[in-house]
This record gives sequence, C-alpha cells and structure tokens, in this order.
Amino acid sequence: MRTRITELFGIEHPIIQGGMHYVGFAEMAAAVSNAGGLGIITGLTQGTPEKLAAEIERCKGMTDKPFGVNLTFLPAVTPPDYPGFVDVIIKSGVKAVETAGNNPAKWLPALKEADIKVIHKCTSVRHALKAESIGCDAVSVDGFECGGHPGEDDVPNFILLPRAAEELKIPFVSSGGMADGRSLVASMAMGAEGMNMGTRFIATQEAPVHENVKQALIAASELDTRLIMRPLRNTERVLNNDAVERLLEKEQEMGDKLSFADIAEEVAGVYPKIMKDGDMDAGGWSCGMVAGLIHDIPTCKELVDRIMKEADEIIAERLAGFRAA
Ligand SMILES: Cc1cc2nc3c(=O)[nH]c(=O)nc-3n(C[C@H](O)[C@H](O)[C@H](O)COP(=O)(O)O)c2cc1C
Repeated sequence: MRTRITELFGIEHPIIQGGMHYVGFAEMAAAVSNAGGLGIITGLTQGTPEKLAAEIERCKGMTDKPFGVNLTFLPAVTPPDYPGFVDVIIKSGVKAVETAGNNPAKWLPALKEADIKVIHKCTSVRHALKAESIGCDAVSVDGFECGGHPGEDDVPNFILLPRAAEELKIPFVSSGGMADGRSLVASMAMGAEGMNMGTRFIATQEAPVHENVKQALIAASELDTRLIMRPLRNTERVLNNDAVERLLEKEQEMGDKLSFADIAEEVAGVYPKIMKDGDMDAGGWSCGMVAGLIHDIPTCKELVDRIMKEADEIIAERLAGFRAA
C-alpha cells in the first residue's frame, strides 16, 4: 500500500506503533520499523534527554529503517526538560516525532527547521484542525476506544474518522481499537491513510514488557477496560484490576472533592511495577478495548505481514466480491 503516510515517513506499510509509557523502548520501536512500519520510542519514559539520546543510539544499532520519538506534553508540577528532549531528537537525526497531549506549537519551528515530520495525536476534530493549522504534517485520530487518554468527548472511531476526513487536508491515521487487516481496511474506507496501534503491539514477542502483561491482554475481553480520572478531566482507559476498582470506588465516594493526591497510590509511578515486574495489580495501566481482539503473541513482523495480507484479501476478494456484476 502506498499512501501519503507511507510517503511522509518513508515506510513500507501504513502502520505506526504509538508511543507507550514503559513499552516504547528501542526493542519495540526497532521491531516495528524492521517489520516495515514506523516504530516509536517514548521520550519521557527514558527520564532525561541524555538517556533518550542513548536509547535512540541503541535503536539505530537494531534497525536501519526510519523510526520516531513520542513527546507527550502533559501538565506537570515539575515539567520534564522538554527543550532538552527536543534538542536531543534534532541532534540524533531522527526524522519523525509523534506529539501528544498539549498543543505542540512551541516546538514546531525547531522540529520543522530540522526537517522532522510531526504527527500529532488528537482525540477530536477541533484539535486535529488546530494541529493542521499550526503546521503539523499529519495527525493520529484517537477514538474513544483507545488505550490511554481518549479525551473527554467520547466519540468512537466510526464517527470520528469520517468527521476527520470531512475536515482535514493533511493525512491522518486511525488510532484506537486497531488490531488487524479489517481495522486497516475499515480505516482507509473512512478516510484514513494508515493506522496507529498501541495495545496490540504490546502482545508481541519483542515488546520489552513482563510476560504477565502479554498474558493479561490475551485473557482480557473487550469488556475489561475502565475509564479512570474522569472527575479530574484527565480520563484514561485502563485494564481493570484490584487497584482500578479501589480507585473507582474512591471516585464515586468523593465526587467533586476528588483530587489527584487521593488516587496517587493507584496511578503514580505504577508503570515500572507493571511493565517490568509484572505486578498486574500495582495500579491503572493504559489498555484499549481492542484487548478483546488480541488472541496471540506473534513477532512484530508476523503481525504486520498478517495485517497487510488480510487487508489485501479483504479488498481484493471480500469487498470485490460484493460488487454487482
Ligand atoms: C500501555 C500504554 C501506554 C501509553 N502511553 C502513551 C504515552 O506515554 N504517550 C502517548 O502519547 N500515548 C500513549 N499511549 C497511547 C498509544 O500511543 C495509542 O495512541 C493508543 O494505544 C491507541 O489505542 P489502542 O491501544 O486501542 O491501539 C499509551 C497506550 C498504552 C496501551
């Protein structure tokens, strides 16, 4: 498949691996890029600009294909060293950046000057249009199904993607709920030029996370995610577990009075415990409804090849077969 997304990023297949906290290390990004997609290292997970620089170098040692870096801009009491991260990305020669969270306008001039292509992740058409207007090259349109932060509008991809297609001029990829060839073909039918996957890529051989995490995804159904932190307007879709149930009880009991401090135990600093140690009840961790479509743990290459083969068959056989003679 050739789309504006494959052209923009110089990749073989229109498939992107979204940045994922404590998953997006060099092993993950390189495996996706080697499979012909665009792998993404998660910037903030590395901790400091120096460590990000080292992770980028490690990734270069594992692939000669293009890969990108995710920069998530979230409100924080002590903001991360964003200028330092941007500087490292530019100096490293990486040519793709996935931005997410707050408006990335402040960082665009420097990134564009360095000829870096920027894809901004958005959960609404208005944010996507804003991204287009400030000069982003593409957007990743994240529906309500997605693992992580779906925003507060709750519009699923069957509506969000065609709405994005109605309004946008820049190319976009679908994101949230994507798992297989059906997802890719449906996304293209609704106007996208590729797809972004998070949760699905965690259940792969190369994903550098504890085996318990992969098994939890296999065991989970589409009914097993929950939305947390809605009262704080920082909604996150996570896999249900003991900590999440405890957190939701607190949310219900405290109502408007809830503050971050009340739930810090269930959300702050839990990612290493889950992703590295496999302590599956340590807290809330992002997971999409797409868990219901995950039944195996292939290599990234097997997964990507299977998606492209399935997409091809759907287009050439299933859909073509419906055409009246
Ligand atoms: C475990 C996990 C961690 C994530 N961490 C981040 C992150 O740090 N920054 C970000 O922009 N998106 C993050 N995401 C969102 C993904 O990049 C992607 O947009 C999302 O997973 C797409 O939905 P899906 O899970 O249904 O494929 C995360 C997702 C998961 C599952």
